[in-house]
Amino acid sequence: MKIFESFVDLINDKSFIKNNIAFIPTMGHLHAGHMSLIKNAENFSKNILVSIYVNEAQFNDPRDFENYPRTLEEDIQKLRDTKCKFLITPKEYEIKNISKAFDPSLEPKKITEILCGKYRPGHFLNVMDIVHRFFQILNPKYAFFGKKDMQQLMVIKELIKLKNYPIEIIPCETIRDANGLAMSSRNTLLSPDERMESSILFESLSKSKQLFGLKKNENEIIDIIKNDFESSRLDLEYFEILNLPSITSPNGAELYAFISAHCGKIRLIDNMLIGR
Ligand code: PAF
Repeated sequence: MKIFESFVDLINDKSFIKNNIAFIPTMGHLHAGHMSLIKNAENFSKNILVSIYVNEAQFNDPRDFENYPRTLEEDIQKLRDTKCKFLITPKEYEIKNISKAFDPSLEPKKITEILCGKYRPGHFLNVMDIVHRFFQILNPKYAFFGKKDMQQLMVIKELIKLKNYPIEIIPCETIRDANGLAMSSRNTLLSPDERMESSILFESLSKSKQLFGLKKNENEIIDIIKNDFESSRLDLEYFEILNLPSITSPNGAELYAFISAHCGKIRLIDNMLIGR
């Protein structure tokens, strides 16, 4: 694996192949979820490129940005055990210099202002901006995103449509720990007890799927889940059930449950397909 701190150096390097790039954008502190994105990428291209860049603009709380785990040396070690060919750890000034911003007037507010967007104003616009910049610079053939961040996936798909990018977005399955907690870089900020109790997110989603199968209506399901949180140390931020266009088949629709909760200072999200 070759490591670059500058996109210009990467692009000008003789070993860099511009075609067929399988791109995995990350903010580092790599975990099994990221590793599975890389494994998925192996099915599409040998030309795998990972970026590690903690995009300050997409953080709503400056303390969350400061506390975001940064473990570059360990990340590099983990990447060396994969088929990743190139790692880029770019700098803000270079990114801004060599790419154009996403035009905020194009923000698809129908997607960016629901669910997490209600609680994180500007977050998705800034995710769109950074991913748009990476796409302009790298022009990948494929880009890989985890379904754990389903709303982000929806936003990126919209970016592709809006800017007509010839990039295939590959949604990858959520990876969970033994208790069902979805892998996230922020999980390491939880104590062992908090981590155990955070499995309530997965339990709630699984329960809602089961209740939906038993023909309970959406409002009944939402009330049951809200009630379960009364006896939990986690604070439920939202639990919503939405009918969405299928992310895998162009004409289908899928019913998803989305959840967000705070465990102490750590905000956790998850989602699950509960019906069609
Ligand atoms: O999902 C993430 O880690 C980030 O939102 C992304 C896509 C790397 C953009 O900063």
